[in-house]
Amino acid sequence: MTPSNPPCDVYTLGAVLHELCVGRPPRGAGALTPARGPSPPRLPDALVAVIERTLRHRPDERFASAADLAEALDDVAADLRWRTGPPRVARYLDELFAARPTAPLAARRAGASRAAPGSACSARPARSGGARRAERRGRRAAAPRFTAAGRARDSRAMATDPDLDPDDVPSPIDLRDPDTARAWLADAELRRPFRPAVRARIAEEVKARGATRVLELGGGPGLLAEAVVAATGAAYTLVDFSPPMLAMARQRAPTARGVLRDLRDPGWVEGLGRFDAAVTMQAVHELRHKRRAPRLYAQVHGLLEPGAVFVVCDHTPSDARPLYMTAEEQHAALGAAGFVDVTTVMTVDSLYVITAARPAGAATGRAAGQPSLAPTP
Ligand SMILES: C[S@@+](CC[C@H](N)C(=O)[O-])C[C@H]1O[C@@H](n2cnc3c(N)ncnc32)[C@H](O)[C@@H]1O
Repeated sequence: MTPSNPPCDVYTLGAVLHELCVGRPPRGAGALTPARGPSPPRLPDALVAVIERTLRHRPDERFASAADLAEALDDVAADLRWRTGPPRVARYLDELFAARPTAPLAARRAGASRAAPGSACSARPARSGGARRAERRGRRAAAPRFTAAGRARDSRAMATDPDLDPDDVPSPIDLRDPDTARAWLADAELRRPFRPAVRARIAEEVKARGATRVLELGGGPGLLAEAVVAATGAAYTLVDFSPPMLAMARQRAPTARGVLRDLRDPGWVEGLGRFDAAVTMQAVHELRHKRRAPRLYAQVHGLLEPGAVFVVCDHTPSDARPLYMTAEEQHAALGAAGFVDVTTVMTVDSLYVITAARPAGAATGRAAGQPSLAPTP
C-alpha cells in the first residue's frame, strides 16, 4: 500500500478542482491558463488563488492537508456569499458533464459511417474545417462557465438567508437541509479526526462539576450529547435550529430533549428551565457574526445556576474576519457576560476548549434573556 502523501494528494485534488472549474486539466504547475485555445473562464480571484496554491511546484508551498484546502474553499464560498451543499454541487456537476460529449469513443469513431436518419445508408457528409470549428464553438458555448451570467445564476441558486444582517457572513451550506446535514456530519468527523478527543474533554469538564442538568447550544447530530450523557447520566437539553440535525440527535442520544430554536432569536431561551452546565462545540460561529456572541453568553449566564460551568469550543480564525473568534475574544465576551475563571483548557489543531463559571452565590433572577415559565415546544 502506498504511504499517505498529503502534498501529493492536495495536488491531485487541485487538478480535479481545476478541471471542474476550467473544463480541462492543468497544464504545468499552477497554470490556470490553457496552453492554447480560448482564455479560461473568469473565476473569482480568491478561488484562483486557492487552486493555484494546490498546484504549486514545490510541495511545501501547497496546503499542508486536504482539511486545510477544504477550509480555504469554505472561506472562499463564505466570502463570496455562496450557499452550497451536496444537492447544489450535484446539480452543478450534472450541468457541467451533461454539456460534454459523453458518447463512448468507439461510438463516436463509428459516427462517420453511421446512417443518417431517414437515409437508407449514407456516410455522414464530410465537414469542412470551418464547420468542425463552428461545432466546437457551439459545444463550448453550451458548457456552463463561471462567467458573470453564470455567477448571477449561481448566486440566485445560492440565495442568502433573509434573517442575516448585511455585515453577517452567510453560511456556505444550509444545515437545515437533510442531505447537507448528513454530509456535514460525515465530513466533520473525517476532516477533524480529533473531534472525539475534544468531546471527551468537554464531557470530563462537565462530569468534574457533578452537573445533572446540561444544556447544549447548536448540538447538531448529538455526538457531544452522546458523550456527555454517557459520562454523566445528566438530563440533557439540546438546542438546534435544524430539524434533520435534531432527528439524528434523537437516534444517537435518545434520552436527550431536542428543542428546535434559532439561537439568533432573542426569545430562544423561553421555557427551557435551569441548568448546572452548558456546552457548545463548533456552533457559536454559526451566529454568523462574532458581535452576537456576548448577547448569547449573557442569555446562557441567565439560564445557569450559580457555580455552573459553561464550556465553549470553537475554531481559531485563520485571519481577521467577523465569523470566528480567537480564544482571547472568547475570554473577553465571556467575562463581559459575567462569567469568571475563564480558562482555555485544550487546544487541538484549530479548535479550542474554554471553561467559564457563573459566579457561585450570585443571585438568580430574570437576568438577560432568562426564561419565563412558558412550556417548551
Ligand atoms: C457546525 S455544526 C456543529 C454541530 C455539533 N455541535 C457538533 O460539533 O457535532 C453547527 C450546528 O449548529 C446549528 N445551528 C446553526 N445555526 C444555528 C442557529 N442560528 N440556531 C441554532 N442552531 C444553529 C446547526 O444546525 C448545526 O447543527
